[in-house]
Amino acid sequence: MATNSDDLPGSANVIKAWEEFVEEQAYPVPHVKAKSDYRNYDNPARDTVREFYRENHRHQTYDFVRRKREEFLRLDRRQMSIFEALDYLNTLVDDSDPDIDLDQLQHLLQTAEAIRKDGHEDWFVLTGLIHDLGKVLCLYGEPQWAVVGDTFPVGCRFSSRIIYSEFFADNPDQSDPILCQQLGVYQQNCGLRQVLMSWGHDEYLYHVLKDHLPEPALYMIRYHSFYAWHREGEYDWLCDEHDRAMLPWVRKFNPYDLYSKSPDPPDWKELRPFYSELLKKYLPEKLAF
Ligand SMILES: [Fe+2]
Ligand SMILES: [Fe+2]
Repeated sequence: MATNSDDLPGSANVIKAWEEFVEEQAYPVPHVKAKSDYRNYDNPARDTVREFYRENHRHQTYDFVRRKREEFLRLDRRQMSIFEALDYLNTLVDDSDPDIDLDQLQHLLQTAEAIRKDGHEDWFVLTGLIHDLGKVLCLYGEPQWAVVGDTFPVGCRFSSRIIYSEFFADNPDQSDPILCQQLGVYQQNCGLRQVLMSWGHDEYLYHVLKDHLPEPALYMIRYHSFYAWHREGEYDWLCDEHDRAMLPWVRKFNPYDLYSKSPDPPDWKELRPFYSELLKKYLPEKLAF
C-alpha cells in the first residue's frame, strides 16, 4: 500500500481549507454572520482552495474516474473495523494547525451528536459518524483533489453551477464531441446509479457500506458533496423518481455536515460505548476497504 506519511500534513491542510471554504464562503448558513466576518480569513487558505479546484476540475475526467474505480472498488486494500478506520483517518490531523479541535474524528463526532440531539433515527446518527471515512483514500497516497471537494457527474457536460466551473476549461472532456453534451454518455433520467461521479471519498465509502445501511443513509454518504444537485438543483435530467425521493434525505443531512461545529467538543471516550453498540446493530465487525 502506498502511504507517504510526508504528504499527510499537506493533505490535512487542503482538506481543512476546503471544508472551511465550503462552510463559510461557498455555502454559508443563511442569515447567520459568516465566520469570516469576525475572523481574519487569510488569503493563502483561499488560494489553496482555488488551486485545489483548479487541479480537481482539470483532472476529473470520465477516463480518470473509470481508472480509479477499477483501482479502488475491488476493496482489497485492508479489512478494518469502523473504530480502526476512525483511528487511521485521524492520523490525517495537521499538527501545525492551531485550530486543532476539529480533527477528522471531532468533525464526525460533532456531526453525529448534532443529528442525535435532534432526535433522528439511529442509522442517521451512525451516518453522521462515518460519512467521511472514505477520506482514508488520502492515506493511500491519493492527491487531495481526488479525495475531497464537490463531486459532479463525469461523462457529460459540467454544470456551470459547480463551484469554480471556469476551471473545467482545462478538462479534456470539455472538448470531446460526446462528453461535452448535456446528457453525454447517459440517457435522459437514467437514474444517478447509472452515472459516474467524479472520484472521491463519497463514492468510495458508498461501495464499502452499500450492503449494510438503509437507502437514505447510502444516498447521504454517496452524494453529500454533490452540491450542484442537492444545493443548486442541477442534473435533474439524469435523475429518476428514486433519486428525487432520496434528495430530501441528502438535503436533511447537509446542515449537520456543514454547521455542527460545537464550542463544547463531545468527549469520544465517554461516547464510545454508545457508538460501539450502534455500530454493532448495523455493521459487521470488519469491513473491506
Ligand atoms: Fe465529506
Ligand atoms: Fe463531513
